[in-house]
Amino acid sequence: MTTHPSPTTTELRARLADTFSEECREYRQRYHDNPAAIVPILSMQGVTKHLDGRMVLNGIDLDIPKQAITAIIGISGSGKSVTLKHLVGLMRPDSGIVALNGQNLGSLSGKKLQAVRRRFSLLFQGGALFDSLNVFDNVAFPLRETTRTSESEIQTRVFGALEDVNLSGMGHKFPDELSGGMNKRAALARALITRPEIILLDEPTAGLDPIIENAIHHLICDTFLRTRTTMVVISHAVPAIFKWCHHVIVLHQGKVLASGPAMTIMDSSDPVIRQFIRGEVDGPIHIL
Ligand SMILES: Nc1ncnc2c1ncn2[C@@H]1O[C@H](COP(=O)(O)OP(=O)(O)OP(=O)(O)O)[C@@H](O)[C@H]1O
Ligand SMILES: [Mg+2]
Repeated sequence: MTTHPSPTTTELRARLADTFSEECREYRQRYHDNPAAIVPILSMQGVTKHLDGRMVLNGIDLDIPKQAITAIIGISGSGKSVTLKHLVGLMRPDSGIVALNGQNLGSLSGKKLQAVRRRFSLLFQGGALFDSLNVFDNVAFPLRETTRTSESEIQTRVFGALEDVNLSGMGHKFPDELSGGMNKRAALARALITRPEIILLDEPTAGLDPIIENAIHHLICDTFLRTRTTMVVISHAVPAIFKWCHHVIVLHQGKVLASGPAMTIMDSSDPVIRQFIRGEVDGPIHIL
C-alpha cells in the first residue's frame, strides 16, 4: 500500500491561508493573544452521564467563553451532542454541574428553566424542519412562538434570514421539496432568527457540498462579527474550523482532552489531536 506523507503544520497553515475577512482574523488573533480577557458564560464541572448503562460523559470540565466562537471537535461517538444537550438543559447530568453565568441549571425547573432555555438557540444534528410548514413558516416559528413580533416585522426578518442563507424566494417551498443542504440552511436561518444570547449548532455543515460548507462558515463568522453572540459549533469540518473559530474543545472518550485558543490546539503535539486533525488512519485512535 502506498502511504502519503501527512501534511506538516506549515502545510496545514498554508492550506488555511484564507479568504476570511481581516476583522475575522484579527478577532481570532486577539483571542489567541489574550484568552483570559474573555470570561466564561457557560461551564461544566465534573459532569458524568450514563446512557443505556454506558458511561458517555466521564467527568467533563469545560468553559465556553462569552462572545467567542467555540468549536467542539472529536471523533464520532465521543460525546459531543450529549455535551451540547447538557449545556442547554435538555439532559441532566448524573453528577457534576452545568452553569450559565454561575447559575446551576440543575437547580432550575419549570418556568425558570424554560426562561433560561429561551436565551439559547439550538440547531440539532439533523436540523429537522417541521414537514407540515413551508420554509417561511418554519423560520418564522420561533418568533411567533416566543416573541410578540408583529407580522410585518416577522416578514422583514424572515426574508432577511433567508437571503443570508441564500434561500431567497424559497419561502413557499415545503421541506420535502428541498435538497438536504437547503433544509440545513433553512434550519440555520431558523436558529439565528430570534437573535439569542447563545447559539449552539450541532454539525451545521454535515452533508453539504464544500462550497456551501464554506459559505455557511462565512455566514456564521459574519453573524458573529455583526452580533458578538456567543456561539458553540460542533463540527467535523477539520481543519477548516481552525480558520474562523476562536476557542476549540477536543472531546475524547467522554472527557475533555484539550481546550484552548484555536491556533494553540492546531499546533498541539498530542498524538490523538494530531491524528484527528490530519485525518490519519494510523495513530492512537483505532477506527478500522
Ligand atoms: N439518548 C441516548 N440513549 C442512549 N445512548 C445514547 C443516547 N444519545 C447518545 N448516546 C450514546 O452516547 C455516545 C455519544 O453520543 P453523541 O451523540 O454525543 O456522539 P457524538 O460525539 O455527537 O458523535 P457524532 O460525531 O457521530 O455525532 C454514543 O455512543 C451514543 O450511542
Ligand atoms: Mg453528534
